[in-house]
Amino acid sequence: MSYAQEWDPARDENPNLDNLTLSRKEGFRALAESPLRPKPDLLTLQQLAALGEAERAAYEKRRRVWHANLGPIKTPQLEAVHEVLWGIVDSNFQGGKKPRRVVAVDAFPGLGKTTAVMNFALEYHRREIQRRGAFTDLGHERWPVCRIGLTSNAGIKDFNKSILEFYAHPGRTSGTSALFVQRALDCILACETKILIIDDLHFLKLTNKDDQEVSDHFNRIVNQFPVTLIFIGVELEKHGLYSLIDESGDTTLSQTGRRATSLTMVPFDVDNDQHRRQWRQLLLDLEQQIVLSRMFAGMLTDGLSDYLYRRTTGHIGSLVTLINRGCQRAARTGTELLTKKLLEEVKIDAASKTASKALKAKFKHRRMNGDTTKDRAGDASASKNSAP
Ligand SMILES: Nc1ncnc2c1ncn2[C@@H]1O[C@H](COP(=O)(O)OP(=O)(O)O)[C@@H](O)[C@H]1O
Ligand SMILES: [Mg+2]
Repeated sequence: MSYAQEWDPARDENPNLDNLTLSRKEGFRALAESPLRPKPDLLTLQQLAALGEAERAAYEKRRRVWHANLGPIKTPQLEAVHEVLWGIVDSNFQGGKKPRRVVAVDAFPGLGKTTAVMNFALEYHRREIQRRGAFTDLGHERWPVCRIGLTSNAGIKDFNKSILEFYAHPGRTSGTSALFVQRALDCILACETKILIIDDLHFLKLTNKDDQEVSDHFNRIVNQFPVTLIFIGVELEKHGLYSLIDESGDTTLSQTGRRATSLTMVPFDVDNDQHRRQWRQLLLDLEQQIVLSRMFAGMLTDGLSDYLYRRTTGHIGSLVTLINRGCQRAARTGTELLTKKLLEEVKIDAASKTASKALKAKFKHRRMNGDTTKDRAGDASASKNSAP
């Protein structure tokens, strides 16, 4: 089967995982149900040189989009999140003892939270549609997952509005707060939505006055509807955001009720053999995805491993940005290979700034150097959260 029959190149115009695409059910479905983007063929330098102008432009565009959308790679962090999420959604609908239905994925930016949860959610969507069909028994469209992403200063009304936006509810533009809640719950029920993902929950602006309202709202969703809530955000615990939920059905701000199951995601480390093997595996997996004419087996793992760790401090977001930009540069300049010299010219300011901020505490007491084969004195791993 040729790729052309499976893959619509028009989709290359739309970057994946952006808030706009994913904030509508159609965008979500397109991502879940369309085939995987085909990897461009790896051409030799001669084959590359032999391409005509138009062919070359098309090839470079495919490569650009490909390198800008590497992954998702099944990292240990991603798999650990998936395992917990599958356990929760599968146990929820098998009756018996009432399982926990609120999960919080709480970690610093750039560690792969959105990627891991979305990858799970898209798989869940496919599974449910396959098992139960695209329509409910009552004839409504089935939407197993509703995903919303909050932006800065979102209040509880914006939250409900985002849900209505996802379902393209006709009443999404006007109405009282109470009406918005009712409509949101109607959508969840009618479309038999089982998972409600709230990304970047830390943007939810709370004043003391709102606490009770938010709490009541989430509790109502989780206690009255057969839905699993997945919160994603930064320092949610610290901001008390998931202690607002009490799955016991008691809608007061109880600290003793059943609280959210909390997961975290950690950066890659190189402090022991197992962690070094995981870092190496990540580089191997990434390397498999790179399409550069002069690349060779071990391009990332032999020689660049320590350098890449130093540049990114083990943050997958920074690493993927660096590799993506490096590949773009290697293609543009004709280098067709990733080297330290080339990567030195690539800036990853925003990502690395985030990374160094997140790791500030971790590295406070230990010396950072390029030697990834030596355990460092004063390793702060004891204070580090382990992967769930
Ligand atoms: N498993 C993965 N495989 C490949 N790339 C990943 C993976 N996880 C994260 N990334 C990359 O890192 C970037 C940041 O990840 P993201 O999921 O947005 O992090 P967070 O939500 O924690 O801020 C993504 O844009 C993606 O490029
Ligand atoms: Mg995110």
